[in-house]
Amino acid sequence: MAAKKIGFLFALELTLLLAFNSGLTAQTVDQAWLRYANPHNRRAIPRKIRALGTTPLEQSAVHELQRGVDGFFAGGSDSSTGNGPTSETVLGTVAEVYAAYPSLAVPKDLGPEGYWIRQAGTPGHALLVVAGADDRGVLYGAFALLRQIGMSGERTRLHLRSSPAMPIRWVDEWDNADGSIERGYAGRSILFEGGKVRDDLQPVSEYARLLASIGINGCNVNNVNGSSPFLAPEMLDGLTRVANAMRPWGVRLAISVDLASPQKVGGLATYDPLDPAVKAWWNAKVNEIYARIPDFAGFTVKADSEGQPGPASYGRTPADAANTLAAALEPHGGVVLYRAFVYNHHLDWNDPKADRARAAYDIFHPLDGKFAQNVIVQTKEGPIDFQVREPVSPLFGGLTQTSQAMEVQITQEYTGQQRHLVYLAPMWKQVLDFDMRVASQPTPVKEIIGGKSFHRTLGGMIGVSGVGRDAWLGSPLALANLYAFGRLAWDPNLSPETIADEWARLTLLASPDTHLQPGDMHTVVEMLMRSWPAYENYTGPLGLQTLTDITGSHYGPGIEGSENNGWGQWHRADHDGVGMDRTVATGTGYAGQYAPEVAKMYESAATTPDDLLLFFHHVPYTYKLHDGKTVIQYLYDSHYDGAAQAAHFVRDWETLKGRTDPELYDNVLARLEYQAGHAIVWRDAIVQYFFKLSGIADDKGRAGYFPGRLEAEDAQLSGYQIIDVKPWEDASRGNAVSCTHPSPQSACMALWTYHGAAGRFDIAVQYFDLQGGVAKFAFDVNGRSTGADATWDADAKLPTRRPHGDNATRHIVHDVTLKPGDKMRVQGTPDGEDPAALDYLELTPAGTD
Ligand code: GCU
Repeated sequence: MAAKKIGFLFALELTLLLAFNSGLTAQTVDQAWLRYANPHNRRAIPRKIRALGTTPLEQSAVHELQRGVDGFFAGGSDSSTGNGPTSETVLGTVAEVYAAYPSLAVPKDLGPEGYWIRQAGTPGHALLVVAGADDRGVLYGAFALLRQIGMSGERTRLHLRSSPAMPIRWVDEWDNADGSIERGYAGRSILFEGGKVRDDLQPVSEYARLLASIGINGCNVNNVNGSSPFLAPEMLDGLTRVANAMRPWGVRLAISVDLASPQKVGGLATYDPLDPAVKAWWNAKVNEIYARIPDFAGFTVKADSEGQPGPASYGRTPADAANTLAAALEPHGGVVLYRAFVYNHHLDWNDPKADRARAAYDIFHPLDGKFAQNVIVQTKEGPIDFQVREPVSPLFGGLTQTSQAMEVQITQEYTGQQRHLVYLAPMWKQVLDFDMRVASQPTPVKEIIGGKSFHRTLGGMIGVSGVGRDAWLGSPLALANLYAFGRLAWDPNLSPETIADEWARLTLLASPDTHLQPGDMHTVVEMLMRSWPAYENYTGPLGLQTLTDITGSHYGPGIEGSENNGWGQWHRADHDGVGMDRTVATGTGYAGQYAPEVAKMYESAATTPDDLLLFFHHVPYTYKLHDGKTVIQYLYDSHYDGAAQAAHFVRDWETLKGRTDPELYDNVLARLEYQAGHAIVWRDAIVQYFFKLSGIADDKGRAGYFPGRLEAEDAQLSGYQIIDVKPWEDASRGNAVSCTHPSPQSACMALWTYHGAAGRFDIAVQYFDLQGGVAKFAFDVNGRSTGADATWDADAKLPTRRPHGDNATRHIVHDVTLKPGDKMRVQGTPDGEDPAALDYLELTPAGTD
């Protein structure tokens, strides 16, 4: 069922994509949370709305508020406010409001970009004032007011005051000029196509509007890899149009730059950042940009990392390179976001002291104090690479004289690629709240990047977003991550539950044809809140990181893919134990990069939290966790629990059937059903891998035992050939069957005879849905199809072109009646490069899957 629906969705996506391309359907923010409908709302505001000033941002604020009020109160009266014809909603900067209404107690100490909202006036002459510290603050105030109306079912007073916790709140797009998106899972770029900026930038304006609604004030538009084409003059013309599209929403344009550009674009003999000709080239290039884009925000730099050129080629430091760019940008008010994601990916796996996790601190800590004032060091939240769990990067505590930003991923590269529900706000929140204990003082990450801990004027949060033409992030529920990113960057003290509730109300209560009640939001918030722990449970618990093939798609299970290579995402599992020793005493010394109190906690396995144990320590499988359970038993249990939790999400969502927007309901249901199947693939791969490696039995008897499972290689085969799947753990018992050499339309067949007791069953058919063709499957019993769900197409677009955990997929044929001697048959018809490969059948009593 799941595969069929996902297939349908992809067909739908293709249709939408074509529609977008032909300009028939606009991609609008209505697909996200700016829907401006709430049937439960009882809070109205004066409909006459005006700005005191004339700036474009104030005009945007007025138009947005008008649009919202028209939506919220369509057809209704606003009598609940006791309005008279002279009632007004008035917007302006603090200075403008103070000048117009001297008697109002407008605060003079609002932080930059902050807002203040008050109800004033007299009965019959209501006055609602939205004051901003500056014109961006006015815009953010308008959106805050709309958010309040959209969420609330109560007649609350509209008194709000807020200022952002950090000045830099950007999204980074990793879009390429050809329209593809690095680690993007939502179709093609809204910005670029065919080497140029797209003609139709309406989606970009809409995106900027969405970003403004959550307080984002910058967007770095291109991939950090291969960025040199973006400095060519024709591209700068296109980027000028992008900046123009985003400007009315207060979103400033930034671009990633390749440090070798003076050579690659400028034709110089060198790109040595200290060479005078190179400095002059950057100065001239920056002037060229500002002549077109006066509010250009700055550059993001990835250098000396994963093949990108950098200052190391000339024996220069990141500070040398950053400062050259900073000097060019400084007169114009631009900044440099220099990424600390610098490491050697040719490490020696056999060297027990080698450790990629050390790299950022080792390279950047010695440079503290050497960066220009307009340089911000941008550090990923953890020391490796957006894994399902990592400790907080020690670099946040290691730069006390340098402005810092934290980079997180909204696009779910290592966390299920939007096909799995994973709400990331709880992960980000843990990092933001983590106390680095610098100089034994409270120094939570949120205050370091907010500039408070070390008295910096710059700092912030960057979210790698990956939006595309497919409804922004592809999956409707994944938009909660984009929403949460903005909300946390504005106020890191918000709780992930509160944010999830806001997002759910704004999105789901306002969706078309909905009959949901505010109380139903609890179901969705719970699903979101349980999703990261569930994903961690079935992909990489105890600090193992996401156990995926790190040299491939970063999607399905691939446990050995991170070992035996130079990339340094190692977990060091062997026959006796698992985990990487990063202690100072016996390991790589990484734990010593934290301030003493934190270092001490991680140095000992006994004081390391269980969820990071294997990140810091190599322990025997029989090592006991804090509750007395062994590591190996935890690995078994967590994978079974995680897969059960994923199955539960389907049932949770089904409780909303008939009450939510039907299109949204079906879309999300198909994704959750697919996820539940893929969680079983993950569970089985990791459990059978560690069962074999450790040789230790599962106390609960599940590892290696699959009741109701009938392997394809044990079936009577016609046309199908038995194949080895690589890695072996991605298939049940390591084998599958493949219809590899068919004549054009012929099907291959696998036939099993049923020997159990008579009964009704749900039958899971586990197959591999490869790209490059749409294989067809059909299930029958004694030659008769068992119902509508007994035929399906393998038309999902999953990564990897050979049978593998990336594309192992489950289809469930429901409610099949069987008696002893019945012949169950799967026919697989290959198509193109998809050989209709099959792993097993699994029978469970009907209604229990
Ligand atoms: C990850 C990701 C790359 C990306 C890199 C980065 O390694 O897989 O695609 O380029 O991060 O952050 O630069």
